[in-house]
Amino acid sequence: MSEAHVFPVPQDAAANAHIDSTRYKEMYARSIADPEGFWGEHGKRIDWIKPYSQVKDVSYDPHDVHIRWFHDGTLNVAANCLDRHLETRGDQTAIIWEGDDPSVDARITYRDLYERVGRLGNAMRDMGVKKGDRVCIYMPMVPEAAVAMLACARIGAVHSIVFGGFSPDSLANRIQDSECVMVITADEGLRGGRGVPLKANTDKALESCPSVKHVIVVKRTGADVPMKKGRDHWYDAATAGQPVDCPAEEMNAEDPLFILYTSGSTGKPKGVLHTSGGYLVYTAMTHEYVFDYKDGEIYWCTADVGWVTGHSYIVYGPLANGATTLMFEGVPNYPTTSRFWEVVDKHKVNIFYTAPTAIRALMRDGEDPVKKTSRESLRILGSVGEPINPEAWMWFYNVVGDGRCPIVDTWWQTETGGILISPLPGATDLKPGSATLPFFGVCPVVVDNEGKELEGATEGNLCIAQSWPGQMRTVYGDHERFVQTYFTTYKGYYFTGDGCRRDEDGYYWITGRVDDVINVSGHRMGTAEVESALVAHPKVSEAAVVGFPHDIKGQGIYAYVTLVAGEKETEELRKELVKWVRQEIGPIASPDIIQWAPGLPKTRSGKIMRRILRKIAENDFGSLGDTSTLADPSVVDDLIDNRPS
Ligand code: WTA
Repeated sequence: MSEAHVFPVPQDAAANAHIDSTRYKEMYARSIADPEGFWGEHGKRIDWIKPYSQVKDVSYDPHDVHIRWFHDGTLNVAANCLDRHLETRGDQTAIIWEGDDPSVDARITYRDLYERVGRLGNAMRDMGVKKGDRVCIYMPMVPEAAVAMLACARIGAVHSIVFGGFSPDSLANRIQDSECVMVITADEGLRGGRGVPLKANTDKALESCPSVKHVIVVKRTGADVPMKKGRDHWYDAATAGQPVDCPAEEMNAEDPLFILYTSGSTGKPKGVLHTSGGYLVYTAMTHEYVFDYKDGEIYWCTADVGWVTGHSYIVYGPLANGATTLMFEGVPNYPTTSRFWEVVDKHKVNIFYTAPTAIRALMRDGEDPVKKTSRESLRILGSVGEPINPEAWMWFYNVVGDGRCPIVDTWWQTETGGILISPLPGATDLKPGSATLPFFGVCPVVVDNEGKELEGATEGNLCIAQSWPGQMRTVYGDHERFVQTYFTTYKGYYFTGDGCRRDEDGYYWITGRVDDVINVSGHRMGTAEVESALVAHPKVSEAAVVGFPHDIKGQGIYAYVTLVAGEKETEELRKELVKWVRQEIGPIASPDIIQWAPGLPKTRSGKIMRRILRKIAENDFGSLGDTSTLADPSVVDDLIDNRPS
């Protein structure tokens, strides 16, 4: 190992883990040399109604991109997460729910979860929801969110979860794009002691969503919310009289399981489509091996089910494995910044998976809030969502894990369905800040801007050369966009949109997005989306948005705004625009800095030179590069002179 800071696999971890380094090398080599054989075998980890005889049918050729796995097999994802566990672990806790208020929690066994899913599935069928219909889930982090996902899977409906922090407009756009027939929501969410008006937002969104025929509403806070007769149904009333057994729909491996909208570098968010068989095989297998999950352990992923991490590693992967998964409604700093560690102690959490932004925020408060808790149950720590800076890694390792727990820094994307690059706790020596090595079947390739594959230690654009079962299959309703976005930039590869470095040991270091996507507190945001929200304001004529380094969020949102002639650049308008973006998209899209820009740096053909705007946002004026090709080079000096400090 070449780098100074290497943390070798602890001996006991290697001895007791599912996979040690010898096994990793063996299995990895086979998975690349013989993907059919490898996945043909590992596909059997889930239950099939009709076993597959075909394993893989994939083409990355831009003229004919198709991705199919296990495509003549049939299964039901919910039955895999529930029914098959009933005999062996019906009374085991499937979900530990920890409420926003530390005195509120619940435990749900596999049998209980099976029954709840059955009742809801039957209620949905009674309301006319059929196989293939899309159902929008707009929920707080309550067990009913997982119940709703599994009920959809059970009856063959395709869920589309919209994060509870999104605005009515964002919700409406997503419902419209996939023509959902139903919304499952709650009266209100509860986070950090504050209510989130989910039903009110839903009502507003549905004014422009004629496809929605029914709304099921979970009573969470008891807030007084209007119910529209014939359309809105309380969850309890709708499910009360329903039988617990709900026949599971027989689904083809390639039938859609869910759509999840995610931001790209252009246009509106894309509906990433995942299917049933390959996705479940891949999430279950990565969950078991990456977290070295052992029967009976308590596993906690702090994500929200509104993001892919919540789909794959709170619900589907863990439940397919018969794990006990913890679902947390609250936030890391409520009521105090010890909350995460108190929850760890309260529920004896063994595996803890969170985001660098949470770690950095908690670091600010020093070690005391951590050290006053025991955390002795912890065995494995995980990180996801953005690059983890070595300083945060070391704090996570030493302060949270007391130097005992391997950290798995897991790199993946909404599109990849599951983890692609990550250490395995018993197999991989760790380097702080590196996602280390590929998972089985994953073949990372680093290419230069011309698409030439680079060898050895190098830096460039990260692509993946072969398919893996958890890969997204298409953009819902727009296969051409799928092809354009991922398979045309570098021919023959899936292009991730990330840059990376590969060191002498073959370790991967993700350097961040190379496109116009920014990563704010681990949430993906398209700069184009924020720009279109800004220009929708009547006083804004033009806007350009870039990311800039932010101590806690990783990246912050920096907006350059040109006003309509005659409008005044006031502090009040600045605040109004921030509020406007929150309303248009949601709080996660709030600009951190708005700079008034009488002019934007453009080429003579009118293209905005974002490279320059990024440098100014980064306060890096020394390396602006060639500005002579600009239509009006003087705008750059003006922007530098007026950069808010
Ligand atoms: C970034 C989240 C570095 C990356 C699962 C990717 C990471 C985007 C890591 C996907 C990591 C995620 N190290 N960067 N461990 N994990 N990213 O779709 O830029 O919300 O492309 O999926 O997050 O974000 P998404």
